[in-house]
Amino acid sequence: MTSPLACTDRGSGPVVLLLHAFPCHRHMWREQVDPIASLGWRVLVPDLPGFGDSPEAVDEPSMTAMARGVLETLGETDRFVVGGLSMGGYLAMEILRQVPARVAALMLFDTKATADPEAARLGRLQVADRVEEAGRTGFLLPEMIPNLLGDTTRETRPDLVARVSKWIACARPGAVAWAQRAMADRPDSRPDLAAYGGPSLVACGDEDRITPRADAAEMAGLLRNSRLETISGSGHLSAVERPEDVTRVIADFIGPLRPVLG
Ligand code: MLT
Repeated sequence: MTSPLACTDRGSGPVVLLLHAFPCHRHMWREQVDPIASLGWRVLVPDLPGFGDSPEAVDEPSMTAMARGVLETLGETDRFVVGGLSMGGYLAMEILRQVPARVAALMLFDTKATADPEAARLGRLQVADRVEEAGRTGFLLPEMIPNLLGDTTRETRPDLVARVSKWIACARPGAVAWAQRAMADRPDSRPDLAAYGGPSLVACGDEDRITPRADAAEMAGLLRNSRLETISGSGHLSAVERPEDVTRVIADFIGPLRPVLG
């Protein structure tokens, strides 16, 4: 990573790092930032490479390189709580792999620990090529929106459908291609979850089609000290679709950790 990532930095206290989904940007977590900061935490939310205001990556695509960029953004921070949604969850698990002793607690939203089966991996590489050739991302909307947003949201929240559609259409082709190639090569994180003894929260929307509850249950089953939550009336982008519920679940989870982390 050559240039630092753009990062929202709000509040003071122990760090809660929130990692966004693909192909969104840090504003995906915007409803959670102030409420969590007001509970005595420093909330850091980076734009991942090439998304939002962050420069595109120069490294070969990998979750390892993505995690390195985020850890550089964290600087000297010793121990922190890390939470990620979908691609952000893959990244949180990569961070756990790289610096397990620094992960004070782990939060995984609408994600999964397994690597991609070969067909899915090849599909990602094809999307990366298509996006690069087209030089735009808007043509992904018809296939992405029904997967990212739940039925309830699509039927009742045209404002959210419009907001997320804009995120997808405005995502830079280079960032989309890089992230797809990075995700295509991510390893199986199940051994890392099984080795982690810290507190962990796993949550997913009950209308999530991309990473349904079975994926969440598998991760919660592997983690030794986990809590499993369901976000009702939400699809894959739970932090956007049910922001208050996600904030409450996070606040309930990290509340008891606050005195321990100082
Ligand atoms: C995401 O929401 O980040 C994506 O669905 C992740 C993926 O493509 O696996």
